[in-house]
Amino acid sequence: MSSGEPAGWGAPLYAHALDAADVGAGTSVLDLGCGTGEFAAAAVTRGARVVGVDSDATAVKIASASVGPARFEVGDAHDLGPVDALGGPFAVVAAMQLLTHVANPLRVLREASRVAATGGTVVASVWGREEECDVGLLGQALGRWLPQRQSPSGRSPSGPPTLADPDRFRKLAWLAGLAVVGVDEVVCPFDYPDENALVDPLLASMIGRTAVVRAGEDAVRAAVRERLAEHRVDGGGYRLQNLFRVLVARAP
Ligand SMILES: C[S@@+](CC[C@H](N)C(=O)[O-])C[C@H]1O[C@@H](n2cnc3c(N)ncnc32)[C@H](O)[C@@H]1O
Repeated sequence: MSSGEPAGWGAPLYAHALDAADVGAGTSVLDLGCGTGEFAAAAVTRGARVVGVDSDATAVKIASASVGPARFEVGDAHDLGPVDALGGPFAVVAAMQLLTHVANPLRVLREASRVAATGGTVVASVWGREEECDVGLLGQALGRWLPQRQSPSGRSPSGPPTLADPDRFRKLAWLAGLAVVGVDEVVCPFDYPDENALVDPLLASMIGRTAVVRAGEDAVRAAVRERLAEHRVDGGGYRLQNLFRVLVARAP
C-alpha cells in the first residue's frame, strides 16, 4: 500500500470481499495481514468471529485496542502453525492487500488453504494495474525527477506480470490448490478534502523527498496540481478512482 491513503478508503473493497465470502453472524474469519484491523472491524460489524494475524506487533496492538470482540495475534502468514491453536479451521480466510507485501505469496495462499475449513472461502485482494489506478498519476507527476518511473506504491509499470494481472492471480491460487470462483474488480474512490491532504503525504514519501531535493517543493506541488487537475472536485478537493482485484476461491 502506498502511504497517504485517505481514512476509510477500503470500505467498498472490504464490503465486496465480505459479501463474496458470505460473511454474516457467527462466520469464523481469519484475517491475514490484518494491519490495524479495518477489515476485521467490518467483519465484526456483521457478527463474524474474527481472528487477525499480522507480523507487525504495533499494528496488532492498535487492532486489539480498537476492534474489541476480535482476537489479534502477531504471526507470519507464511507459517501459521497448528490450525486449532489459531482457533480454526475457518469458514473464511482473508488476505486483504497482503500478497504483494510478502516474500512468498504462493506459500501464504497455501497456508490460507490449509487453515480454511473444507470448502471454506479464501478471499484476497490486490491493487489493479498502474493504469487502472489514479494514484499512479502522483508518481507520473514526479516522474521527471525520479531515477526510474515509480508509482507511489513502488510498483513498476514494466516487468513480468504481477498479481494485478487477473490471469496471474488465478494461476497463483490454482498452484496453491484452491478452486478459483472468480477474480472480481472493485473501484474505491480516494477522496482528499484539499490539496494538502493529497500532496503532503506524497512529499513525505521516498519519491516525494527525492523530487523535492531535485526540484524544490514549489515545483513538485505545481507538477502534481497540473497532472491531477482533471481529478479536482468542487470545493477544492480531489477524487482518485482506484481499481482493486478480489480473488474468491474455495479450499479443498
Ligand atoms: C498493506 S497492509 C494491509 C493491511 C490490511 N489488511 C488492509 O487491508 O488495510 C499489509 C499488512 O501485511 C502485514 N504483513 C506483511 N508481511 C506479513 C507476513 N509475512 N505475515 C503477516 N502479516 C504480514 C504488514 O505488517 C501490513 O500490516
